[in-house]
Amino acid sequence: MLKKRIKNWHVPHGQELTDLDKRILDFQNRGELVPTRRLIKTPEQIEGIRRSGVVNTGVLDLLEKEIHAGMSTAEIDRLVYDYTTGHGAIPAPLNYEGFPKSVCTSINEVVCHGIPSEDEILEEGDIINIDVSTILDGYFSDASRMFIIGKTSPRKEKLVKVAKECLDVGASAARPWGFVGDIGKAIAQHAHKHGFSVVRDLCGHGVGLEFHEDPEVDHYNTHRKGMLLVPGMVFTIEPMINMGDWQVFIDEEDGWTVVTEDELPSAQWEHTFLMTENGLEILSH
Ligand code: MF3
Ligand code: CO
Repeated sequence: MLKKRIKNWHVPHGQELTDLDKRILDFQNRGELVPTRRLIKTPEQIEGIRRSGVVNTGVLDLLEKEIHAGMSTAEIDRLVYDYTTGHGAIPAPLNYEGFPKSVCTSINEVVCHGIPSEDEILEEGDIINIDVSTILDGYFSDASRMFIIGKTSPRKEKLVKVAKECLDVGASAARPWGFVGDIGKAIAQHAHKHGFSVVRDLCGHGVGLEFHEDPEVDHYNTHRKGMLLVPGMVFTIEPMINMGDWQVFIDEEDGWTVVTEDELPSAQWEHTFLMTENGLEILSH
């Protein structure tokens, strides 16, 4: 069967080719997956996403100061809502595909998309991911951090540390005019070296004009190149690293909460990045 190639890059008929067109068409003509124009942000769009990212990082900095044992995840949700709206922005998760709260709070064996609740109280030894996403003037940003409540076990502490290292090695592997596939390959190698596994069912993503755009950024080794990385692209890297096996399931009760199959802990860190001529720049952390 004749394989259908995805031809994302179009130059309107009769229009002269720029250097950027030529460079991208060269990859496309060799059969590589290239971005659409919409995925390469203009300087004005980058400034908008950057400002959104400053508010988003501000939320996480606030939570870092306020988080403590005995606090409910609903209190975290209120802090996120108040800070975000107080800065003229909107929490992106709120009502996103029916998500009921302003932030995702994911404790221990919860991998991601945990829903804040009055009944869920942070306890000494918990590890929690707080995933914050912001819309400012129509521009989206997205980042998450792990927080350790008091003192936890050496093994959970190591999981949190290695998950952050996975984000960092993934980011270092992303090169302008390289490929998305380089990222997951580097992350998986680092996670496996420490005896941990990488969740496969969720990925990083383009972000900026929408909450979730192309490309999909897998955090494991798919053995595929994935999309070409062109300066001006904005995307997240957000590896979810498991202490045990990589398999996960979605809680049927709420339709959101992602939990490890073996109920062992999971950790995740996420930044929003801009690809530049010299590699990645952080827009929100
Ligand atoms: N913030 C998540 C991400 O990193 C998406 C959460 S969707 C929500 O992509 F609806 F659960 F908020
Ligand atoms: Co994200």
